[in-house]
Amino acid sequence: MNDMRLTERNMTDHKIKMQARGVDVFYGHDQAIKNVDVDIEDNTVTAFIGPSGCGKSTFLRCLNRMNDTIDVCRVTGDIRLDDEDIYDPQVDPVQLRAKVGMVFQKPNPFPKSIYDNVAYGPKIHGLATNKAELDEIVEKSLRRAAIWDEAKDRLDQPGTGLSGGQQQRLCIARAVATNPEVLLMDEPCSALDPIATAQVEELIDELRERFSVVIVTHSMQQAARVSQKTAFFHLGELVEYGETSQIFTNPQDTRTESYITGRIG
Ligand SMILES: Nc1ncnc2c1ncn2[C@@H]1O[C@H](COP(=O)(O)OP(=O)(O)O)[C@@H](O)[C@H]1O
Ligand SMILES: [Mg+2]
Repeated sequence: MNDMRLTERNMTDHKIKMQARGVDVFYGHDQAIKNVDVDIEDNTVTAFIGPSGCGKSTFLRCLNRMNDTIDVCRVTGDIRLDDEDIYDPQVDPVQLRAKVGMVFQKPNPFPKSIYDNVAYGPKIHGLATNKAELDEIVEKSLRRAAIWDEAKDRLDQPGTGLSGGQQQRLCIARAVATNPEVLLMDEPCSALDPIATAQVEELIDELRERFSVVIVTHSMQQAARVSQKTAFFHLGELVEYGETSQIFTNPQDTRTESYITGRIG
């Protein structure tokens, strides 16, 4: 009874921002995701871990309908953002992706100035009515992504001229510029050196104060460092989901245990 109450309290610590139920994903005839249920909490970093090819990126892309851009890909099941079905025909995927932003594995700034990289989203979504407002959004976003000091004197220079770690923080600034509610990050540090990785990890921890963050990582150390919740995927299934500390110290499923102890993966 006490245990039950504890569990309930943990589950209501943060409100559920996104909820997936019975999600299947197919590429042509091949099923990549099998009947996945998961809750993504607000103000929480949720890590998706699991061996290469188990479907982490595929499932992440379901959360902002990025799979819509892949012709052979078909998603079924129910995914909600604040209890609204994101696959409802009324939902405009472009608007959805402003609310559920994404940062990719390889830093991919547009071939534009640093300023324009960040200003692009707010411009197309009409978030600023004049230049001063746009300037303000750009500065605030670069500050949130902890790259303002390095970028402020070179806003008109190409984003591609920055170092890899700076480019990734610029991409994070670009993603937060549209005022998203959820940030999806697919192995955002895999192209970065250890120092840039540490900077981005620190930033992820700060972003949690405002956003719900979902990070795919192949590094269990990284998942343990940055996340509060962890979901372990294996062969397209979500095998286990829970408090990160519990998943890493006391996994309930033998497949999770094998993975975290290095026997599969
Ligand atoms: N664009 C695609 N077209 C066809 N199959 C794909 C595509 N992307 C991923 N897959 C397949 O879906 C499965 C899951 O891949 P992925 O989601 O990339 O896994 P992970 O991110 O965990 O490494 C793999 O079998 C992969 O080959
Ligand atoms: Mg992947």
